[in-house]
Amino acid sequence: VSGQASIPAPLEPVRWDQDAVRLIDQRLLPEKLEHWYCRSVDEVARAIRTLAVRGAPAIGITAAYGVALGAHRAVERGRNIRDDALGAIEQLRGTRPTAVNLFHALDRMRAVIEAIPAAKDRELPQRLLEEAHRILAEDLETGRRIAQVGLEVMPKRDPLRVLTHCNAGGLATGGWGTALAPLYAAAQAGRELSVLADETRPLLQGRRLTAWELARARIPVRVLVDGAAASVIARGDVDLVIVGADRIAANGDAANKIGTFPVALAAREAGIPFYVAAPLSTFDPDTPTGREIPVEERGAEEVLGSASPEGVGALNPAFDVTPASLITSWLTERGALQPPFTRETLARLAKENDKAG
Ligand code: MRU
Repeated sequence: VSGQASIPAPLEPVRWDQDAVRLIDQRLLPEKLEHWYCRSVDEVARAIRTLAVRGAPAIGITAAYGVALGAHRAVERGRNIRDDALGAIEQLRGTRPTAVNLFHALDRMRAVIEAIPAAKDRELPQRLLEEAHRILAEDLETGRRIAQVGLEVMPKRDPLRVLTHCNAGGLATGGWGTALAPLYAAAQAGRELSVLADETRPLLQGRRLTAWELARARIPVRVLVDGAAASVIARGDVDLVIVGADRIAANGDAANKIGTFPVALAAREAGIPFYVAAPLSTFDPDTPTGREIPVEERGAEEVLGSASPEGVGALNPAFDVTPASLITSWLTERGALQPPFTRETLARLAKENDKAG
């Protein structure tokens, strides 16, 4: 793809639309841009589990709207609003284990419920919807800030040759992205970019989603099979790697899509920077190191497809953990950070965030 980069309006992977949670069904991209209107908590849970919506921040935003949806449905059906909203939180907690944004968003929804006395349960649907809107708005603002932070740290070289893994773009968030946000900002600032998007086996988030997003913004992008990343980096064809994260432990170890860790090893070997871009809601001070991050195992069918010998199984971990020692810096809405990421540090940063925002 070539031509002048032009940054289109942010994508809208998750929005509230007339009493439904409207998702871009990411399983259908890039062939079709279609919406899934989820009208029940069951549907929202299924959308998250099947990766119709995916990416750590987008999962959190969707779950928040899912809780609001549960409260709205309870009113229509004459059910107990509080019980149904709490039930939605429990159900949604079980959808995917690795991205901590899911749990942070659900904790915020629970706090809203707990702050409202039982006598005022009728207020719950509106209050929960407002909190979900806030989580989305904060994420959009976060994306804009990460874009600027990333732009400042990226080497000043034109063309800038960037490699990314999976999709940490608009589709994975409220609309701007984390790892891709600085690339949008760079393109907008007139920088010349050349992006390699790892294909990202087995579900092809790189080939289907990252390539689609960047092409849509007219940012030059080429798809790379995952196995090619190390040698392309080693021969000097990449200036920097930037990826997102699903959960960052207190010591800085970062879980991201399977295949990220080998890219980080290759970047270290070649002496190029390896950045992790993520909002503070992806940091988990209660998880001391990467070893304690729960890694989702998905079904063998995702790996095997239809063309594998009968009787052969598959191992399908959805994420890996890149040790902090391989990460150059952690790009957040509060700047380029270094570990440790304790509760205290994160609380202080979040407060500064409030003041700045
Ligand atoms: O399984 P997925 O597609 O939800 O995995 C997504 C990733 O690994 C992303 O890189 C991560 O969530 C960061 S999204 C800003």
